[in-house]
Amino acid sequence: MRRTLRKCRWVLGTLIVAGVGVWFSGLLEAEPRKAPPPRARTSYAPVAVTERFESLVARMSAAKPRVMRSHLELLQERYDLSNRPVPGVTMTRGKPIQGGVRVKLPPGVTWDDLARMRPEEIRRRGLWPKGFLPLPHPNHAEGGMLFPKHHIDELKRQTGRDLTRFDLDFDLPEHFLPEFPPPMFLTTRPDLGDVSQGKLVTLANYYELFSGILNPKQLEGLRLLVTPFPQQQFNATEDRRSLLPHRGVACFDCHVNGHTNAATHLVGDIRPQAYRHRIDTPSLRGVNIQRLFGSQRALKSVEDFTEFEQRAAYFDGDPIIATKKGVNVLERGSQVHFMAEFQALLDFPPAPKLRWDGKLDPEKATPAELRGQELFFGKAKCGICHPAPYYTDNLMHNLKTERFYEPQWVGGRWAAGDGPIKTFTLRGIKDSPPYLHDGRLLTLEDTVEFFNLVLGLKLTAQEKADLVAFLRCL
Ligand code: HEC
Ligand code: HEC
Repeated sequence: MRRTLRKCRWVLGTLIVAGVGVWFSGLLEAEPRKAPPPRARTSYAPVAVTERFESLVARMSAAKPRVMRSHLELLQERYDLSNRPVPGVTMTRGKPIQGGVRVKLPPGVTWDDLARMRPEEIRRRGLWPKGFLPLPHPNHAEGGMLFPKHHIDELKRQTGRDLTRFDLDFDLPEHFLPEFPPPMFLTTRPDLGDVSQGKLVTLANYYELFSGILNPKQLEGLRLLVTPFPQQQFNATEDRRSLLPHRGVACFDCHVNGHTNAATHLVGDIRPQAYRHRIDTPSLRGVNIQRLFGSQRALKSVEDFTEFEQRAAYFDGDPIIATKKGVNVLERGSQVHFMAEFQALLDFPPAPKLRWDGKLDPEKATPAELRGQELFFGKAKCGICHPAPYYTDNLMHNLKTERFYEPQWVGGRWAAGDGPIKTFTLRGIKDSPPYLHDGRLLTLEDTVEFFNLVLGLKLTAQEKADLVAFLRCL
């Protein structure tokens, strides 16, 4: 009897302690979701990984379904992800482009209501649409390079190299991504049209496709752009996210055919982790006319970006871990230069309605497109930062979107303003969704609603439609 009683008390005690534990850990979880992340304890990644690789794989693959589910919920809360192509409007090789505003409105307001409010009011009432907040990486705390499935499949078929991660999949639905593989145009040989011949350019076919079209220096540059080199998640050490030891990634795994497949990772320059921006791979089309490289770092040459992409961005800006994982240091005069020379040949796709000055030919454009152009350079102010003919001022601008929202957690990302960002060119823009440096906007309609609020434009529904019609001509 006494023993049963003691047992009961023990069970009860355990239950209470466990209960308090659950409550307490609930508190621990709830609290940091409001407070900004503390300063990181160190800038460095651990070099010696003590967990066994098999246990790392088991732990992270087991967590994967939950991680992906919670990120998908976040996406669904922000966007209408349905497949709604615009009839008759395609990317250069024919993939339909998605239409309509996909960012969801907060309950009880319309876009026009928001456009009438001052930023402080939107901020105070918590009405900034969630899809206009920074977009986090699918697993922000973990981060790293992530590739769309169609790219992984085609690369594996051609070369046997597998870019699958055991812990994570790419997140955005395929209909919101650039066409795959995209066409490739050379400034030196406009007569040839698409020089990729509809193929994904890899180490397996680049020579056959380009020998006799490029000079030997450019051909060697292209070889290096399709050659894999070690990187944070894909390398031969135990600290990796591929099942088998790996040769690494190639520049064209993200900048596919010199364009983009919307592969993503986290910017290397910021600590702690929660402040790092998700970044959407930009197209390399037209880097020849650009003067700043990287959405935030503003490196001054394609040569610098090429060298430091592989030395630093591949390893999250950590030269110590880079040494461990076998960083390949490119030789400046004979490798970096050749790679940059090839990149500078990548032209924008043809825009048959634009004249020599980058503006619409009135003979070819529709009335809606011409009205859109007038708005772009007039009432809508776009032309201030995106002047013709290349639709970039080659500067950085701080759009100060934090005027519209309280600092907050979005998934594992602490959203507290973007800072100055490069003005991306809008030439060929319909070919490169998703939009903004982190890919937070899915359609051109979304970008017009975004700038309507950010710039305080008060555009009418007709004016917004006309602007979109113009953007599709670029
Ligand atoms: C994970 C896919 C990925 C790989 C692999 C990759 N890049 Fe990038 N690249 C990006 C992203 C994302 C950015 C944007 C960086 C930023 O905003 O700071 C970028 C930016 C650039 C830019 C500047 C473009 C601009 O508009 O400012 C150049 C040039 C570039 N990369 C070249 C390269 C070269 C050369 C390699 C190979 C050594 C390479 N990239 C490998 C994703 C990738
Ligand atoms: C104050 C300068 C400024 C003005 C005015 C401006 N933009 Fe931009 N635009 C930017 C910057 C900076 C970015 C990059 C922002 C980012 O990535 O977070 C950008 C990005 C974009 C993008 C996405 C580009 C990409 O590759 O993802 C589109 C589309 C765009 N702007 C359209 C417009 C339109 C349409 C207008 C007019 C209604 C406009 N912009 C007015 C500076 C400006």
